[in-house]
Amino acid sequence: MSDLSHLLANNRAWAARMERAEPGFFRGLASQQTPRYLWIGCADSRVPANEIIGLPPGEVFVHRNVANLVVHSDLNCLSVLDYALSVLHITDIIVCGHYNCGGINAALQPSEGRIVDHWIRHVRDIAKHYKADLERLTTTAEQNHRLCELNVAVQVVHVRESPVLQAARHEVNVHGWIYDVADGRLQDLTPMVEEVRALEPSVRV
Ligand code: CO
Repeated sequence: MSDLSHLLANNRAWAARMERAEPGFFRGLASQQTPRYLWIGCADSRVPANEIIGLPPGEVFVHRNVANLVVHSDLNCLSVLDYALSVLHITDIIVCGHYNCGGINAALQPSEGRIVDHWIRHVRDIAKHYKADLERLTTTAEQNHRLCELNVAVQVVHVRESPVLQAARHEVNVHGWIYDVADGRLQDLTPMVEEVRALEPSVRV
């Protein structure tokens, strides 16, 4: 069995550091969480939600999966969304994609017939839907880049159209962001959501 004692040692040092910086920090969090944000992001190890927006434990409710998808029938994501809205009363949902996403790149390659290809199929559908827009770009890198952005915009629409969100009894803002793993910077794509919807009238509800 591999030895993970270095991780447990890291954890003890981290907990001590946190407690030194803010005595009572963990005691305060023990009985409740009151995060304002729900983060829906990619499972990619390079995009750790709290860390890249500089927030400590307790501030962000997080759901991550391959290629940050919000699939209408995904009970896992819907449960997170429901809990975030009806119990935590979260007011801001951030769908965050990232460039160089393996899930997105895979959607532009032939299928390898693995389990994950079934999941990626959702991204292939987006690529098919916006084929004309993608084909205006000449290089594979540009197409991957654009598909990462289109995917964020489409997932924002999925959240906004979700019956769970529409049943919310308070105002909820849904944001679309993209993270560049090459420089650590986030970019707000929310204005692009309307532009993307205009590209393809059939996605309107
Ligand atoms: Co990814």
